[in-house]
Amino acid sequence: MLAKKPPLGWNSWNTFGNNISEELIRQTADAMVSTGLRDAGYEYVVIDDCWSLRRRGPDGRIVPDPVKFPSGIKPLADYIHSLGLKLGMYSDAGTKTCAGYPGSFEHEFLDAETFASWGVDYLKYDFCNKPRLQDGPILYNRMSMALKSTGRDILLSACNWGSDHVETWIRSSGADMYRSTGDIWDNFDSVRRIARSQMDKIAYSAPGCYNDMDMLVCGMYSRGNVGGGENGGCSDIEYRTHFALWCLYQSPLMIGCDIRNASETTLSLLKNPELLAIDQDEDARPPMFFYGNADSPIVGMFKHLSGGEYAFAFVNYSDHEAGMSCELFDIGLSSCAGWGFELRNIFTGEVSGPYNDYFNVHRMQPHDIRVYRARLVKM
Ligand code: GLA
Repeated sequence: MLAKKPPLGWNSWNTFGNNISEELIRQTADAMVSTGLRDAGYEYVVIDDCWSLRRRGPDGRIVPDPVKFPSGIKPLADYIHSLGLKLGMYSDAGTKTCAGYPGSFEHEFLDAETFASWGVDYLKYDFCNKPRLQDGPILYNRMSMALKSTGRDILLSACNWGSDHVETWIRSSGADMYRSTGDIWDNFDSVRRIARSQMDKIAYSAPGCYNDMDMLVCGMYSRGNVGGGENGGCSDIEYRTHFALWCLYQSPLMIGCDIRNASETTLSLLKNPELLAIDQDEDARPPMFFYGNADSPIVGMFKHLSGGEYAFAFVNYSDHEAGMSCELFDIGLSSCAGWGFELRNIFTGEVSGPYNDYFNVHRMQPHDIRVYRARLVKM
């Protein structure tokens, strides 16, 4: 199994779009090391769309753009591997990628062999320009077999944007993770829409094949390809909520900002050990949404973690300060059980409880999230 835990890395698309180069990828790989992101667990450096020429070569193979990647891909892969990182690349199940470069349709086995010969470790596989009568399960299954035929471990990151009830069949296709929504934008509305849309689908996500809620916009501050322009960007509170939600849902975490000049605030969020531990929790149990629904201003979640611990999280999706009382019988704990929850706020370190009937979640800022690590203790 390639994805025992949600894959972690960086992807070029959110900030750089078409504006990619060998130099950018090398510098980003260096920054993964110097910022401590590699040591925090981020592993894949992924080159998204726009890396090749518009036409295949005479031998039918995809050709890296010699202006963007003058040394080709293999030396870049070697460099990335020398830093203890892995290289990801991008193709498409259709005839062309979303940006109009060659897709792998009916070249799957040849392209897989090419990627393997370069030392690629991860393939993001998009869904634009596919023949209408060819369906997703067959096309992802085909690429999955093609990658396996190379004998190299290449993680398959499916990207059909949640269409065709992807969560119900993608695991059978051999893919290791699957995009479950349309593209993210660097604003809180987009983050909220994605998080709400997966409340009834996250239970399909499990070791071996994880629900990918799209690349992170944390630290973009409206810069770059999905920056959202003048009204784009999020506040630091919103980026923290975004990151925490992705971790609670155990999404793969693909950083989307320019890490070469990321602020300390951004880096410490991306390296937050408490949140990463939740994202990488080996039990991989989906959160129980015990308070609110996909339209509610406040949503309460409860999550079993490995080692007999738990997490509680409360999101304030509304535009106002808000709070609530968390009644423990809503998750099945009655006050006569003789046990209560001791809570540790993972952002402040404050310990409280034990509580065996309810606790108050006061004064949450608009768009903020509160996350507690919890233990059951005898009262
Ligand atoms: C689609 C994907 C994005 C990105 C672009 C590249 O929109 O969903 O994540 O890969 O294509 O063109």
